Amino acid sequence: METRAIIVAAGRGERMGAGLPKAFVPLAGVPMLLHSARAFDAAPSVSAIAVVVPADRIDETRDLLRGLSKPVTVVPGGERRQDSVRCGIAALPAAFDGIVLVHDAARPLLDAALIDAVAAAAARAGAAIPVLPVGDTIKRIEDGMVRATIDRDALGAAQTPQGFAIALLREAYDDAGRAGVVLTDEAMAIERIGRPVRAVLGAARNRKITTADDLAWAEDVLVRDRR
Ligand code: CTP
Ligand code: MG
Repeated sequence: METRAIIVAAGRGERMGAGLPKAFVPLAGVPMLLHSARAFDAAPSVSAIAVVVPADRIDETRDLLRGLSKPVTVVPGGERRQDSVRCGIAALPAAFDGIVLVHDAARPLLDAALIDAVAAAAARAGAAIPVLPVGDTIKRIEDGMVRATIDRDALGAAQTPQGFAIALLREAYDDAGRAGVVLTDEAMAIERIGRPVRAVLGAARNRKITTADDLAWAEDVLVRDRR
């Protein structure tokens, strides 16, 4: 089934505090966004890539991604992440009826194998996301007091790329939009309309870069890769 990627990179990166949007902060000498764009370019399952960026960075992004081999569309994003995802969905061809993979530019160290695994699972199940087992013991806290220990075998930390049959994602987003729901990921929109989402094993390297410490971690990983 034809699979297209949407990379959302239109956030402000406030917690990073680099003075520029996080997706454009250098990582190993190139803007963070280029790392994930290259991974989608290398993934055999993906036919085209849409990138959602701040409105004043469209031309710069087109230049940045000029060297990729697959067709790239660059569009402006919105106020919240879910608004930027909507902008990416709107940039898909109207007749497209395949699988869409939604990915955060803030996860630069994903690889083509994970992309293809999510695409294949989404093609089978309609919706699929990568999750990582939770390492820490997780407590429920109320009023500053520990109330319970949650069975962590039943928990997983959600990553991106998240893959969906495009018709299902459109339906779920329209419904969430009508209900005024704040979404923290795409799978949440699918869950709330009662449709199944397949969990595939995520990757520790595919960590989200939120703070300057996370960025330093990613730099170290890439330095070690080069050794
Ligand atoms: N994102 C987006 N449009 C927004 C907000 C976020 O495209 N209006 C994207 C970010 O660029 C990022 C991903 O969604 O790739 C995950 O968001 P997050 O890690 O929160 O990034 P930022 O919103 O940029 O960071 P912060 O919340 O610290 O400002
Ligand atoms: Mg944010």
